[in-house]
Amino acid sequence: MIRNTRSTLAAALVSAALLASANVAAHEDHCEDTRLGDVMKDMKKSFKAYRGALKQGDWMAMSDARLKLSELSVSVTDEQPLKAREMNADERPELIEKYRKGMEKLDLLLGQLEQAEQSKDKGQVMALVKQVGAHTKKSHKALQLDCD
Ligand code: HEM
Repeated sequence: MIRNTRSTLAAALVSAALLASANVAAHEDHCEDTRLGDVMKDMKKSFKAYRGALKQGDWMAMSDARLKLSELSVSVTDEQPLKAREMNADERPELIEKYRKGMEKLDLLLGQLEQAEQSKDKGQVMALVKQVGAHTKKSHKALQLDCD
């Protein structure tokens, strides 16, 4: 009887441990790092550099940071948000389309930013930076997987 209880206990412990490790694996899978996420981190640096340069009135540095931001965003055109993997096959294309459209819009705003820089229109640059920030926030809300 004691032996039975012990082996039942042992079995329960083993399955609890297995369950726990399966949970950890599921969590890691769910929240895993992506190439898109890595590039986004660099985009964050460039956008920050842009705003810093704007504060200093350093048009050259602004142009460099905007170009970098633009190159980075173009490099992830064909990526897909991690959130898309979690969706049903019938919902997925809509999310991917939303992502593509969002990236196109970012590209458009960056093109307008370039024009505003060329005419040294600081007011317009500031308005566009605000729009990039708002567009980014909205895109993240719709497309980023809430995984923590
Ligand atoms: C200046 C513009 C942007 C900046 C600075 C930016 C920055 C970031 C940062 C810091 C992250 C978190 C990365 C991590 O810790 O793993 C992120 C994630 C993400 N961003 Fe952006 N972002 C920008 C624009 C956009 C736009 C326009 C879209 C979509 C159209 C977008 C879609 C995403 C997605 C989907 C993720 C989650 C990563 C994944 O699913 O693999 N971002 N972004």
